Amino acid sequence: MSTANQLALPTMGCGTWAWGNRLLWDYDPRMDDQLHAVFDLCVAYGVTLFDTGDSYGTGRLKGRSEELLGQFANTYRGSNADRICIATKLAAYPWRLTRSSMASACEGSARRLGRKVDLVQMHWSTANYAPWQEWALLDGLADLYDRGEVKAVGLSNYGPKRLQKVYQRFRDRGVPIATLQVQYSLLSTYPVSELNVKEICDELGIQLIAYSPLALGLLTGKYSANGPYPKGLRGFLCKQLFPAIDPLLDCLRAIARSRQKTMAQVALNWCIGKGAIPIPGAKTLEQAKQNIGALGWQLDAGEMAELDRVSESLDKQMVQNIFQTR
Ligand SMILES: NC(=O)c1ccc[n+]([C@@H]2O[C@H](COP(=O)([O-])OP(=O)(O)OC[C@H]3O[C@@H](n4cnc5c(N)ncnc54)[C@H](OP(=O)(O)O)[C@@H]3O)[C@@H](O)[C@H]2O)c1
Repeated sequence: MSTANQLALPTMGCGTWAWGNRLLWDYDPRMDDQLHAVFDLCVAYGVTLFDTGDSYGTGRLKGRSEELLGQFANTYRGSNADRICIATKLAAYPWRLTRSSMASACEGSARRLGRKVDLVQMHWSTANYAPWQEWALLDGLADLYDRGEVKAVGLSNYGPKRLQKVYQRFRDRGVPIATLQVQYSLLSTYPVSELNVKEICDELGIQLIAYSPLALGLLTGKYSANGPYPKGLRGFLCKQLFPAIDPLLDCLRAIARSRQKTMAQVALNWCIGKGAIPIPGAKTLEQAKQNIGALGWQLDAGEMAELDRVSESLDKQMVQNIFQTR
């Protein structure tokens, strides 16, 4: 457990993008009892960080992920209740132009959650397409910390150059950056291997969070070159990546077999071994149980090196988030 400012961050968290998303993740409100069970199990096992976003949920279900998290967190009575950390991300929508728009956005999240936000994160930087918009939003984010509305502040999809700029500006007003989240997995090493974000985070005392650590489910081994693939965008991504990623899946499978673990557990343990907090999404109790099995053991140096070697040798990796800055 690492402490970033007032936050007690666990070794692993849980992502909730799918909770309320019909389009990409086939969410159905009939899943809610299952998601409640996922939440309870995670907290009981010390997986107390839950990542959400004010843009999560499709169509009329917008905000559903925050609402569900709030319901579950506010009624949870088991162990580790005092460690629950709800981390939301505020979207840099084009109509959010002022400092105060971040205060309103955070109020909206707190209302849906029925409690205060613990960690508030800037979902993405507008630096690549609307640089004039960015500082007002970031200043508004820091205001939330100053006013005690949140315990800590984080960023998402920022590269090292932008991160350092924001770090300096926040430092000058005494606001620490607790976390940075980037797409980081064996199929998305770019933020760390090319952009060096881990090194910069370590220098600045920022905890790295790995999102999509299972590469949207691909690293669990449940898809193969012969299909079937998931529907929609995920299926499209699968088609792009197979058979190029087969050597990595073979390597994960072999290590999983020798360790008597699952491929998902090995993929998540690799993230932890790299010093990041993975936040795998879980839609079922079975998935959550399996992912929790990534805790309490460690891949050895040889296994880590073999996974690194095979990952680096691939011709293709997951496409990077278009908002990721340098
Ligand atoms: N900051 C950002 O811009 C950003 C972007 C993306 C994600 N995130 C955050 O990161 C979290 C995690 O990323 P993600 O949800 O994109 O992808 P992920 O964690 O790589 O994959 C999660 C999906 O894989 C499947 N799965 C999970 N555990 C499994 C298991 N043990 N066995 C088999 N299948 C399993 C589930 O979907 P199926 O059952 O449908 O296969 C699950 O929804 C998100 O929920 C979100 O909170 C942040």
